[in-house]
Amino acid sequence: MRHKHVVRGGLVGLWLAVAASVVWAPHVLPGGSALAATRDTLRDSLLVSESVYQGWKWFAVYCFRCHGEDAMHPILPNAPDLRWAVSPTGANFPRDSFVNTALNGRLDKGMPAWKVLLDTSAIQELYLYVKARSDGWLKPGRPHRASDLQTKSK
Ligand code: HEC
Repeated sequence: MRHKHVVRGGLVGLWLAVAASVVWAPHVLPGGSALAATRDTLRDSLLVSESVYQGWKWFAVYCFRCHGEDAMHPILPNAPDLRWAVSPTGANFPRDSFVNTALNGRLDKGMPAWKVLLDTSAIQELYLYVKARSDGWLKPGRPHRASDLQTKSK
């Protein structure tokens, strides 16, 4: 019996598509166009959800000057690499600890308290961004959302 849906490149292509959808699935917004955009640009490792995008923005405003651009290579020598901090082997795993530290800081160690400027939802977005960088699927650089891509292709 022949399949109606022919996968380009046969089995190899199918495997790649499956692998890609596993990697991408949790991060892509629902909607056909987002999926299509993902399929057309398999190397687009900067495509993120709204929350991760907001997290990146907060990070680029408040955190990079100590923890480093793209959440790597900290600028302040005693500020940790937050990619490590939220990883399973890191000092700030699980997330509660991240949120708590970000809100209240560790003033004696040079980490400011952000609750004066950021609310819990902003900190959650920061966590999602840092986690994406820690898990590695989000590459360094300015991320974009599916809606940004749609605007561009018009
Ligand atoms: C003025 C410099 C500075 C800025 C700006 C800064 N941090 Fe920090 N941060 C530090 C230092 C220093 C530490 C290490 C504190 C310690 O030694 O325990 C730290 C630690 C942390 C930790 C704990 C990591 C761990 O597991 O040990 C988290 C989480 C964190 N920062 C998040 C943030 C977030 C989110 C922002 C932006 C909203 C931010 N930081 C901005 C200096 C900074």
